Amino acid sequence: MHAAVVTAFGRPPRYQSFPDPVPAAGEVLVRVLAAGLHPRVRSGAAGTHYTSDGTLPLVPGFDGVGLTPDGARVFFGGLKAPNGSMAEYVAVPAKALVDLPDGVDDVTVAGAMNPAMSAWLALTHRARIQPGESVLVLGATGNAGQMAVQLARHEGAKTITAAGRDPRALAKLPGLGADRTVSLDADDATVAGRLAEAAANVDVVVDYVWGHPTEVALAAIASARADAAHRLRWVHVGAMAGPDITLPGATLRKTNIDFRGSGQGSVSPADMRTAHQELADRLPTAGLTIDTVTMPLRDVEAAWDTKMPTGTRTVLVP
Ligand SMILES: NC(=O)c1ccc[n+]([C@@H]2O[C@H](COP(=O)([O-])OP(=O)(O)OC[C@H]3O[C@@H](n4cnc5c(N)ncnc54)[C@H](OP(=O)(O)O)[C@@H]3O)[C@@H](O)[C@H]2O)c1
Repeated sequence: MHAAVVTAFGRPPRYQSFPDPVPAAGEVLVRVLAAGLHPRVRSGAAGTHYTSDGTLPLVPGFDGVGLTPDGARVFFGGLKAPNGSMAEYVAVPAKALVDLPDGVDDVTVAGAMNPAMSAWLALTHRARIQPGESVLVLGATGNAGQMAVQLARHEGAKTITAAGRDPRALAKLPGLGADRTVSLDADDATVAGRLAEAAANVDVVVDYVWGHPTEVALAAIASARADAAHRLRWVHVGAMAGPDITLPGATLRKTNIDFRGSGQGSVSPADMRTAHQELADRLPTAGLTIDTVTMPLRDVEAAWDTKMPTGTRTVLVP
């Protein structure tokens, strides 16, 4: 078969011939129809994701849409390196296959499922959001943040505050369901003031940025809450601005704040499968929108080096 192949960390994958995968017991050989180029795919291919074990060569790709040998159209996710989806065929554990409903096309599903799943898991499985609650999305301008805004609306959030830097993507967010937008593109004091005004009393924060912007947001919100004992669930999902934060003990003492992460490990494989099917079942009716750019898999090297505008997802098609 042909596949995208990484032979050295730090270099883009190259399109080349590669041995066909041989399914192990309990696996199914899936013909890949489309695979998204998500940040998770890049960090896996760079060997920097927390699940990476350094094996090379590897085929990148964390998930995708494909056809099983009996012709079922499925979504599959949670692939483990070195066996990724940026190939003509991939071996997938049968229990990781998610039946896809009609009415959603391959490229949209391949582009949307990873960012949408991050939001679905964070909002429903980790924060256990209830209708009428208020949500702040930090990093709302990216693909995942845009999904978090849309899914928070879908789940009946009362007020959704969307924070991000990119002005073009920020301007789009009210159309996706945000009640307020906050620009993070300013000095710390200005950003803190904006967040204190717009999001002081939120119930749930879905955080894709972490690092310094999270430190600023946390300090601002913790100091501005009308009722410090009102519970705040802060769900860490991504670390686009940095892998660590400094967490002052006083913040935990003065605010009823509940930190949790959402990702591979903090969500069990069984819950992950349930969540995938829940989300897939909602795709035809949830009205989720995503901007995708489709490229042939043979152009994977160019796709790797092309910086897409914020909120646009590249999908590779074998
Ligand atoms: N745990 C999970 O289950 C899971 C699943 C999927 C994704 N993720 C993670 O979620 C994160 C976002 O994914 P995505 O698909 O939305 O990526 P994306 O489409 O590339 O968007 C990246 C986002 O990060 C923001 N950003 C980048 N650097 C920043 C900085 N220094 N300060 C503030 N904001 C910054 C961007 O904002 P601007 O463009 O406005 O600057 C944009 O909103 C990634 O870390 C990804 O790995 C986690």
